[in-house]
Amino acid sequence: MRLPVLALPAALILAAAALAAPAAAQETSPGASAAAPPFAETFGKTLVIVYSVTGSTLDLAGKIQALTGGDLVRIETEETYPVGEELIPYAKRQRDELRKPVLKGAPPDVSSYDTVFLGSPVWFHELPPAVTELLAVLDFQRKPLAPFLTAGGSAGDSAEQLRTLAKTALIREPLVVFRYMSRPGEEIDKEVEDWLKSLRDGPAIEPPSDAPADANAGAPESPPQAPAPASGAPKAPAAEATAPAAPEAPAPAQ
Ligand SMILES: Cc1cc2nc3c(=O)[nH]c(=O)nc-3n(C[C@H](O)[C@H](O)[C@H](O)COP(=O)(O)O)c2cc1C
Repeated sequence: MRLPVLALPAALILAAAALAAPAAAQETSPGASAAAPPFAETFGKTLVIVYSVTGSTLDLAGKIQALTGGDLVRIETEETYPVGEELIPYAKRQRDELRKPVLKGAPPDVSSYDTVFLGSPVWFHELPPAVTELLAVLDFQRKPLAPFLTAGGSAGDSAEQLRTLAKTALIREPLVVFRYMSRPGEEIDKEVEDWLKSLRDGPAIEPPSDAPADANAGAPESPPQAPAPASGAPKAPAAEATAPAAPEAPAPAQ
């Protein structure tokens, strides 16, 4: 069943905002829960970072958080994007004018996590500028990074763009979910679980062949190699996002 956006547990909101840390509210999984989330051990300590304007990717992030028991950080911008019909023309103007949004707060600190999930919508066949701004400054410290994207029907180059920009991460196979809001929640739940299983059961992760040897050079405090994730968390190699065709939801006009 799909989690409503506001159903992200309110009790999970950290006082971390007061720590001047991340770009947005940081939410954590409940302390002691009755049953461990099914993928908690698979990925070790997990951070779910998400950017979302109209709520789909945030909702998907909630599902991933629930299944992994991770912490969740929402990326926010100083400017507020309009809702409804104004959003696409607004974003288009922003893109055409090469304006970049300013992120709120500092980028999330991934240092204490074993695995990072990063969620984003697709905008104009690419990543939204807030996410490219984040990727320009976020040091993944060579941690496994599992991207998840939502899109109306065409993810374009967004997964490849993410791979190119997240040079300090060991990127896993992305999940691309189309038409999030108009599909049955159960169907999406299955896609998410299948994806998490494929990450779990995939072959060992390897650094992308085109990553510079000193990809992590900008992070002197980081360990030179990604720490091994929790046992039972083999890693998949970098792979292209295979976005299935979704004829019902064409991309918005460019
Ligand atoms: C400005 C803008 C541009 C978009 N461009 C695309 C696109 O190129 N391809 C696509 O399939 N969907 C596109 N969409 C649809 C979004 O990717 C989709 O609705 C997504 O799930 C929204 O995520 P969010 O609710 O987390 O913000 C666009 C939406 C917006 C607002």
